[in-house]
Amino acid sequence: MNFHTRKWIKPEDLNPNGTLFGGRLLEWIDEEAALYAIIQLENQRTVTKYMSEINFKSSAKKGDIIEIGIAPKKFGNSSLTLACEVRNKMTREVIITVDTIIMVSLGDNGKPIAHGKTKIEYVKDRLTDE
Ligand SMILES: CC(C)(COP(=O)(O)OP(=O)(O)OC[C@H]1O[C@@H](n2cnc3c(N)ncnc32)[C@H](O)[C@@H]1OP(=O)(O)O)[C@@H](O)C(=O)NCCC(=O)NCCS
Repeated sequence: MNFHTRKWIKPEDLNPNGTLFGGRLLEWIDEEAALYAIIQLENQRTVTKYMSEINFKSSAKKGDIIEIGIAPKKFGNSSLTLACEVRNKMTREVIITVDTIIMVSLGDNGKPIAHGKTKIEYVKDRLTDE
């Protein structure tokens, strides 16, 4: 799993209990999954279709640095299945896991379209191939 993104927990990210608000974390996860899928599938019209059970294992508090990891599980026809883990950057304690996130590639008509991808690609390789 690649942990590309780090976040710094600020006062505006907290719930009334003084810990990281779950809705904020889900927003970050959804954006991270979307970015990953858009880059991999080379289609900006890629949307979140499905998220499996979300398991909050531990919390984060103001000042903590967390990192968000995404791993591809399956390249489908129009879909890309991802897994996500968020952990504390300094302690590596797992904060949340999302087993399955399904992203779907859409055409101009808003319907699923085959993305033609079967494996991870790196942008640097795409650039040197040209
Ligand atoms: C995404 C959307 C176009 C898919 O429409 P749909 O009729 O379900 O499309 P399909 O049944 O053809 O499924 C498309 C793909 O998603 C997969 N999929 C759909 N529902 C799924 C589910 N519940 N679990 C797992 N995979 C699912 C299908 O297996 C298919 O994958 P494949 O093409 O790789 O085989 C439609 O549901 C939609 O517009 N949803 C709203 C998306 C959105 O607004 N998201 C929030 C903002 S980003």
